[in-house]
Amino acid sequence: MANSTASAKRDGFSSALGVLAATLGSAVGLGNIWKFPALTGSNGGAGFLLIYLCATLVVGLPVMIAELTLGRHARANPIAALKRMGPPGRPWWLVGVIGMIAAFLIMAFYSEVVAWVFAYVWKGLEGSALSSDPAVTQGAFTALVSSPWQSLLWQWVVLLLIGGILLKGVSGGIEAVTKRLMPLLFLLLTALCLYSLTLDGAGAGLSFLFRPDFSKVDATVVLTAVGLAFFKMSIGMGTMMTYGSYFRTEQNIPLTAGRVMCADLAVSLLAGIAIFPAVFTFGFEPAAGPALLFITLPAVFAQLPFGQLLMVLFFVLTSIAAIGAMLSLLEVPVLILHERLGWPRHKAIGVCVAVVAVLGAACALSGSVLAGFLLFGRNMFELMDFVSSNVLLPVGGILVALFAGWVWGKESFTHAVSNAGELGNTRLARVLVVLLRYVSPVLILIVMLHGLGVL
Ligand code: PFF
Repeated sequence: MANSTASAKRDGFSSALGVLAATLGSAVGLGNIWKFPALTGSNGGAGFLLIYLCATLVVGLPVMIAELTLGRHARANPIAALKRMGPPGRPWWLVGVIGMIAAFLIMAFYSEVVAWVFAYVWKGLEGSALSSDPAVTQGAFTALVSSPWQSLLWQWVVLLLIGGILLKGVSGGIEAVTKRLMPLLFLLLTALCLYSLTLDGAGAGLSFLFRPDFSKVDATVVLTAVGLAFFKMSIGMGTMMTYGSYFRTEQNIPLTAGRVMCADLAVSLLAGIAIFPAVFTFGFEPAAGPALLFITLPAVFAQLPFGQLLMVLFFVLTSIAAIGAMLSLLEVPVLILHERLGWPRHKAIGVCVAVVAVLGAACALSGSVLAGFLLFGRNMFELMDFVSSNVLLPVGGILVALFAGWVWGKESFTHAVSNAGELGNTRLARVLVVLLRYVSPVLILIVMLHGLGVL
């Protein structure tokens, strides 16, 4: 390793609450607001929820626990961790490299969506983009996406903010910020939910979200649930390994991961309860993705009392959710460059922000000057989303599961997960080993082949 001073005074999370806030901050993100509720509603409601829960328990949670445990044991970035813990001469460290590439690609398109969210906080304050006519809200969104400068400038605002927080370090930056933002997120979301439940469409919204319709549940729905569980828990790209390296020695990792899973699910459900009653009250179609956030919801807000205030609150809370996720994404390459090349943190952050700005520009301009530039039939935005979510994350997840289950081995894994036997959870650790060895890799592989159109 190039730098011993980096590890000598290694930063880390300072309290159990800080660990929880930062890890939850990573899991909670845009996925909770525009993916989970819409997918649940259109894939069979409570039936989908049940499958998602199973997918989270048998695939998401074991891989998350494995990543956190590997990171804490090695107290190093993912590349160094796998190099140190793997057999000599075997290239397991490449999993860390895949993770770093995935982090850059995800940040490139994710930061652009966060840029739109930031722009909508501004539009909310101005009162623009608020109209009961969806054609008008569609026009406002198209104007933003097709303006190269607006897209780029808002993306730079996002990147400077995230880079600025990381400059303050792990405990002074990530932990301090997520510890304040996560409670605020729950508060805002609960307030919006309570408001939404008073609307006329509350019954229709809740029934869209929760009515079990098992006729809609087929193989594709199951695979969608596994893929969502994976993206939601921020696994497969070294994020959790990086955060695990900042965990305190006495932290109960399975308990922390379980709490993060439950709190993340709560945010997703609350988001659905806040959004769909309002959407149904005005007879809109429940959309997913950007259309829901930037076209349908402003049209809904325009018709509600205090609509402008609600719009600002909603996009502020979506920004909060996205900030925690972005912090964890950027921290992966920052730690790698800091530890491997011995760069000071501020240099590593500057370089990583610059790389994301360049890759991100390709995504930001996908709606304007680069609109006609397609590779494999996809524009840059879609391509980076596809490659990271459908190839790199699953490959990373499979390899982490195999590494923890087979290479690092049952005894070492059980020893580390149980805090050297202190937690008395060795039986749980053994179940996790079985899942990591046989269940998670196979399920993730099937999801990946499906995502690639092979199955
Ligand atoms: N979990 C985040 C979300 O649901 O929006 C997305 C994400 C963050 C994926 C961090 C991967 C990651 F490393």
